[in-house]
Amino acid sequence: MKIAVLYGGTSGEREVSISTGKGIMNALKANGHEVIGIDFNPKQLIEILDLEADLVFLGLHGKLGEDGKIQSLLEMLNIPYVGSGVLASALAMDKSKAKKLFLQNDIPTPDSRTYSLVEKEHFEHLKDKVLAEFDLPFVVKPNQEGSTLGLTIVKQQEELDQALEEAFKHDDEIIVEDYIKGREMTIGVWGEKGKETALPVIEIIPKNEYYDYESKYAPGGSEHIVPANISMELTKQLQDYAIQAHQVLGCSVYSRVDFIVTEQDIPYILEVNTLPGMTPTSLFPDAARAIGLSYEEMIEKIVHLSLK
Ligand code: DAL
Ligand code: MG
Repeated sequence: MKIAVLYGGTSGEREVSISTGKGIMNALKANGHEVIGIDFNPKQLIEILDLEADLVFLGLHGKLGEDGKIQSLLEMLNIPYVGSGVLASALAMDKSKAKKLFLQNDIPTPDSRTYSLVEKEHFEHLKDKVLAEFDLPFVVKPNQEGSTLGLTIVKQQEELDQALEEAFKHDDEIIVEDYIKGREMTIGVWGEKGKETALPVIEIIPKNEYYDYESKYAPGGSEHIVPANISMELTKQLQDYAIQAHQVLGCSVYSRVDFIVTEQDIPYILEVNTLPGMTPTSLFPDAARAIGLSYEEMIEKIVHLSLK
């Protein structure tokens, strides 16, 4: 098959996406496909318009790659692509809208509020509002971003200024969310629409205080325990929530769903990643390995599911 791989991109997760793209391209070549690699930026749009490929494998993360926009272009060109469609991608990328859907479907997620750039213009007022509405510690993050870029766990009032500045660097809208103390767990979901299955639960033990950018991508930055050492009940609960979250957003083919689990074993969903990382330190490939699939076999399964 002739498969184009779009990677790189222009989002804050560009470096991650280059690494994801490399992994995917190597695997596709090893599987015998003809691969066209495109380090994607708006200048390549002409190339995309002329693209002749049986499938586009999206190795992109974040804005313009994971948020439905490139998916929309590929729809117009009638070129099949991996993963979720336009609306599901956009919804998953918009954490605040996704959280509303999770709550409507009884999937617990930390309480949160969204603030926009308009309010940033009244910075002092915004700070007062946040402090009036949230008890310390709380999390400040951009509404649409990945890999924990721009995220701060605010423990003291004095840290709020800096946290807001950081988050607004990435997006015009930010989320402030209750900080839930607990273990970080993630679950890969894949399969045909309505028949999705969950991969084994992975517990992430970051070397840093939480699973930040460095813990995610520096070799040895975190330990992945798969399957997580948790009860059968909690495993089932997490896997059910993960599949449900994938479905309520309308995702297709594959995704990875992130949770925090409290000491009392109560899971809180954080987000659904519609184009999960496929780098050497990424989680989805580890979960696939745990059910006996090599990286190459995992990529081939995603190709086949995407063409169904
Ligand atoms: N956003 C990164 C790539 C992930 O979730 O794996
Ligand atoms: Mg993410």
